[in-house]
This record gives sequence, structure tokens and C-alpha cells, in this order.
Amino acid sequence: MTIELDVLTPADADRCAELEKLLFPGDDPWSAGAFRAELAAKHNRYFAVRTTLESGVTLMIGYAGVSLLGNRFSPESEVHTIGVDPSFQRLGVGTMLLDRLLAEAEKHGGPVFLEVRTDNEPAIALYRRYGFDTVGTRRNYYQPSGADAFTMRRPAGGGALS
Ligand SMILES: CC(C)(COP(=O)(O)OP(=O)(O)OC[C@H]1O[C@@H](n2cnc3c(N)ncnc32)[C@H](O)[C@@H]1OP(=O)(O)O)[C@@H](O)C(=O)NCCC(=O)NCCS
Repeated sequence: MTIELDVLTPADADRCAELEKLLFPGDDPWSAGAFRAELAAKHNRYFAVRTTLESGVTLMIGYAGVSLLGNRFSPESEVHTIGVDPSFQRLGVGTMLLDRLLAEAEKHGGPVFLEVRTDNEPAIALYRRYGFDTVGTRRNYYQPSGADAFTMRRPAGGGALS
């Protein structure tokens, strides 16, 4: 199986929306339009992982985005989303994507923030490996489920694995 990382484009928006429905069914999954809006924002960086199937068809199996915020005196970044097709999870795709997002965030400078459901153990485990720590809890952050989120922060200059 070949796996390649490149940039996410507006042509991927429908596939992203399809994956969102699978990955975040109770939490207002993003639409194709929401992805197109994210991709149009100048301060956002989005990436995709693709695989070429035996049939020769190329399939996008993971996507992730980070927003580069603040200013040059006080930069910070925020991971907006990361998702991997359930059939391709636990193969290192999420790691590839997070590596790339954090490389962008490190170039930009400052800490990196994200929100994650408090019961999302796979994602929390991944983020901890990259030096993110829990810095707060946001009640009823996800809708319509009403699930709580942890706010996690990775200090400037990184930490842990990467
Ligand atoms: C979180 C997610 C992106 C991880 O993607 P992935 O491609 O499966 O991740 P990787 O294969 O790179 O795994 C890296 C590490 O994350 C952790 N991890 C991933 N899945 C895990 C699971 N099901 N249980 C526990 N830890 C897990 C492990 O530490 C793993 O390392 P290991 O395989 O060496 O033990 C994926 O599970 C996903 O898409 N989840 C649904 C969407 C989501 O919740 N996104 C995050 C929103 S904040």
C-alpha cells in the first residue's frame, strides 16, 4: 500500500464531509462547504494523506488542518481538525498528519492549542505523545451531543516525541 502526504484541496471537500459523518456522527460534522471555507482562509494549512488502491484509484484517507494565529510578537496555532478513515486507522496516518501540522506550527512559532472530547482516548493518547497537556475543560463544547472538551496546549518549541 502506498501512502502519500500532500495538500488538501477544494476538490477533496466532498470526501472530507463523507469522512466527517463517519468520524463525528453526533457532533455536527463539517459540511463540504465548511471545508471549502477553511481552505479559503489564508492563515489555515490543510493536508491530506492518500493511498492508491489495487484498482489504481487514489483515495483520500486522512485530513488535518491547523490555523496560524496571533502576530509576530505573540504567535500561536490551533489544530482545527484531524481525521482518518476508520478502515485505515492505527497505521500511522494520524501521526503523519500531526507531524506535518506541528512542523507548520513550529515554523510559525508559539504554543499550539486544540480541543478534544474528554472521552476521545485515541486522540488524547496521540496528542500526549506530541507533548500536549490538558489546560482546561469546556463544558457542553460539542453540539448537539453536549459532550465536554479538554483544551490541550503544546508549548512553543514542542515537547515529547516530535
Ligand atoms: C485520532 C486519530 C486521528 C488517530 O489516527 P490514526 O491514524 O489511527 O493514528 P496513528 O495510527 O498514527 O496512531 C498514533 C498513536 O495514537 C494513539 N492511538 C491511536 N488510536 C488509538 C486507539 N484506538 N486507542 C488508543 N490509542 C490510540 C496511539 O498512541 C498510537 O500509537 P501506537 O499505534 O504506536 O500505539 C483517529 O483515531 C481518528 O480519526 N479518530 C476520529 C476523529 C477524531 O477523533 N479526531 C480528533 C478530533 S480532536
